[in-house]
Amino acid sequence: MKVTVDLKERAYDIVLQEGARHRLEVFLREHCPNAHAKVIITSSSLRAQPWFDFATGLGAHIIEVPEGESAKTFATLELLCEQLAALELSRSDVVIGVGGGAVTDLAGFAAAVYLRGIDVVQVPTTLVGQVDAATGGKTAINLRAGKNLVGAFHQPLGVFCDFETLETLPERERLSGLGEIAKCWLLEGRAAGDLESASLNDLVLMSVRLKASIVAADEFEGGRRALLNYGHTLGHALEVLALARDADELRHGEAVAVGLAYAVRLAHALGRVDAAEIVNHDEVLRILGLGQGVPTELATNDIVTAMGHDKKAHHDLTFVLPGANGFEVVRGIEPETIVQVLESFRGEQ
Ligand code: GLY
Repeated sequence: MKVTVDLKERAYDIVLQEGARHRLEVFLREHCPNAHAKVIITSSSLRAQPWFDFATGLGAHIIEVPEGESAKTFATLELLCEQLAALELSRSDVVIGVGGGAVTDLAGFAAAVYLRGIDVVQVPTTLVGQVDAATGGKTAINLRAGKNLVGAFHQPLGVFCDFETLETLPERERLSGLGEIAKCWLLEGRAAGDLESASLNDLVLMSVRLKASIVAADEFEGGRRALLNYGHTLGHALEVLALARDADELRHGEAVAVGLAYAVRLAHALGRVDAAEIVNHDEVLRILGLGQGVPTELATNDIVTAMGHDKKAHHDLTFVLPGANGFEVVRGIEPETIVQVLESFRGEQ
């Protein structure tokens, strides 16, 4: 299967299939004929996976970066760019990000800034990476003040989503991906009941198609692309607070799932949707096996402050919410309403 991100002269394909990684060699020969050096950026645990076999035939250098979000720092970026320079990577060469969202975010950002931009191909190996992070050209590292606060738009030459890499995915990582899939399902306005008959591959394809169409229409998030942040205002805040306590407390998509359950309650409190929409959201999250609980250790005040630090907040708390006109970015909600709905949501748990 192939989904095209139609960005005219920078259009590219997302290849989705079992064994997609094995198509990379031919792809690089065709799309990067002048590349003398190829560099795979990955982590040591991924390098040890059986599916990493594909790298052998590529003749690529391999650079390992730290696992997970801990890779998305200035220090790692600097070290990585020094390593690219030591390998004498030139503008005609190519970087290949192989890993989850953190690796592809970092690899993409290094490719965006090294020599003011070289080509990157993404091979997302987690569900979050396949359905969201690796497609669309958003690349970034984190600051203490929040996730993804330093980054660049840098579209890949291609994305290879190999379903075989998902077979060895730990359960928490799978759940995290399902959080992003739940977001896409709800953004598409689909009913919970139809989820039962969908296979995981169908769900990945649905999410990738949605993302590709939104990115093609609004590459730089001037409008519609912001809808992909549904559930992320609370989700990012929970993720940042949880990361500061324990890197394993809450994965990205798990936090987004909580954010979705909260967002629909906020929309209901604002009179934008009726109670049936809350039921539908809760059912989608339940069928996908996602929890909705805000970690009890986090104080509501800290969560609200962290929501204000989200880079999409624009000095005001900003939420993507459903309503009579579909999904919209909503600003200017009374802080008391935000807090009251959060307290009442926490009270349900
Ligand atoms: N992850 C949201 C976006 O790419 O816009």
